[in-house]
Formats: sequence, C-alpha cells, structure tokens
Amino acid sequence: MATFKITSEIHAERSRSHESWRQNYVVTQFAFEYPPHMKPKNSMTYDHDGDLVLEKKEGKLLIEHSISTQLELVGLQLWRGAFLLADYIMANPREFEHQNVVELGSGVGLTSIVAAMLAREVTCTDIDLGEILPLIKRNAQQNSKYIRGKFNVMALNFKDTEWSKNLKRKLTESTIILAADVIYDDNITEHFVSTLERILHSDDTRRIVYVAMEKRFVFTIAHLDSVAPSYEEFRRCISRRGLKWSVEEVKLEFPQYFKYDRVKELVLMKIQRI
Ligand SMILES: C[S@@+](CC[C@H](N)C(=O)[O-])C[C@H]1O[C@@H](n2cnc3c(N)ncnc32)[C@H](O)[C@@H]1O
Repeated sequence: MATFKITSEIHAERSRSHESWRQNYVVTQFAFEYPPHMKPKNSMTYDHDGDLVLEKKEGKLLIEHSISTQLELVGLQLWRGAFLLADYIMANPREFEHQNVVELGSGVGLTSIVAAMLAREVTCTDIDLGEILPLIKRNAQQNSKYIRGKFNVMALNFKDTEWSKNLKRKLTESTIILAADVIYDDNITEHFVSTLERILHSDDTRRIVYVAMEKRFVFTIAHLDSVAPSYEEFRRCISRRGLKWSVEEVKLEFPQYFKYDRVKELVLMKIQRI
C-alpha cells in the first residue's frame, strides 16, 4: 500500500532557487530582514575601491529539512506557525532577552534558533522520532553564528508522564514556552494541553506560553458551516480540564521579517495561568 505523504505549504509555495541537497534532506536559505534593533554590529565595511558598503539588512538561516513526509514525521518539515512565532520574537526583543525559553514540538528548530538570537538559554525539544533531534542539532550548528546564549536539544514527548532530571530542570528554569503548529490532531492536542498544564502549574513562576497555529477550516455537513476543528478542540480541551488560563489572541500587526504567506488563518495565542 502506498504511504500517504504530506507537504507543508511553506515548501509548496517557495522557489527552489535557494536550495541544495544533503543526502535525503534539502538545505534551504531562509532569508530574513533584520529588525532595526537587531542589526549586527560592525556591519559597515568598505569595498576594494574604498567605498562604504551599506550595513547588512538581511540575514540567512540555513535550515536542513524534508519537503514531504508521512504524518508522524511532519516535524522534519517547516510550517507557517514557526515563521509567525519567529517574527513575533524578532519584533519583541525585550520580552526574550535574558530569558530561559523552552520550545515544544520544535520540528527542525527554526523558531528556537531565532529565540536564541536574544534569549539567555533556549531548550529546543521534540519527540525523539526519526531524524528530528539530530536534524535540530545540525541546524543549530549550521546557524551557530546567530546563537547568543546556551542552546540545548532534548527529547520531550507530550505523552510521557516521566521527565528526565535534566529536562525537568530546564522546564523549571523556563520563563517562556513556545510552540508552533503542534495543534492538528486531537489526541496530540490532549497530551499537549496536559504537558502545558504540568509546566504552568508545577510552581509559582509566572510563565508565558506562546502558541502559533494555522486554523485549518473544513466544511462539515453536521454543522452546515466551516469549522476549525483542531483550534476548537484545543479551546475545548482547556475548558474540559477546568484550567484557569487566560488565552489572548495576539494581534498580528507586528512586522514580517521572514518571507512566507501570512495567511488570515494564522493565529498567535498568549497563554498564562490566572
Ligand atoms: C506540524 S509540525 C510543526 C513543527 C514546527 N514547530 C514548525 O512549526 O515548523 C508538528 C510538531 O509536533 C511534534 N509532535 C507531534 N507529536 C508529538 C508528541 N507526542 N510530543 C512532542 N511533539 C510532538 C512533531 O514532531 C512536529 O515537530
């Protein structure tokens, strides 16, 4: 039987001109515009004629990833939520500077790498499946010039009830939790919410969680309407568990630094324990 494969819109809509291959993976240059407050220092140089070369306006992340995978390995691809969250981080440097950040379901690690341009420490986590964790490590190495503080890669499966000592420490020390595009399957969502519950209610630290997602709408005969089942299930899951959280939708008015289609279905939620 043929295996069903999925391709992220990010790869479907990009030109192939900035790509090279490394074994089974594609290495893509994802260019971003530096926000004025993040422009690299000493970027004023002179060319061989002695003319001033204008300061760098663009940076490039080199990310190794797949273009098409089975559902279990969608983390080997990049999704729009990762870019939306990366844009938010770049637009709000003060929020991330000197913070300890943990990302859940990081995929190939792009958002964590962007957070690491500002944060004191970033712990990039995902399920230990296929090549996901080795790929994050390679991507972090490949983009090490952008990483300011400590960068850890650890396994975190939402379904695990036991966490290693090391992981527990990173979660306890964290002040910001990130997750992009991890809400797409009801069973995973249930475990994702229970993971957030454990993190947010483990101690008195006031942590902020940012969850980016794309509301994928479907038309159902039962509702005679278009619904975003994954998003709605996420909200229901929070209510079912009686969690006292504030869930605020962040206005997507911050600048776009990466090139992707910021479709109207993209949502960024800011979640805090009340
Ligand atoms: C659609 S991908 C998003 C990847 C990345 N955040 C992005 O936006 O490009 C979903 C992510 O959730 C992760 N995931 C799925 N099930 C998981 C689980 N049980 N525990 C932890 N992560 C999981 C996948 O491995 C994958 O990295």
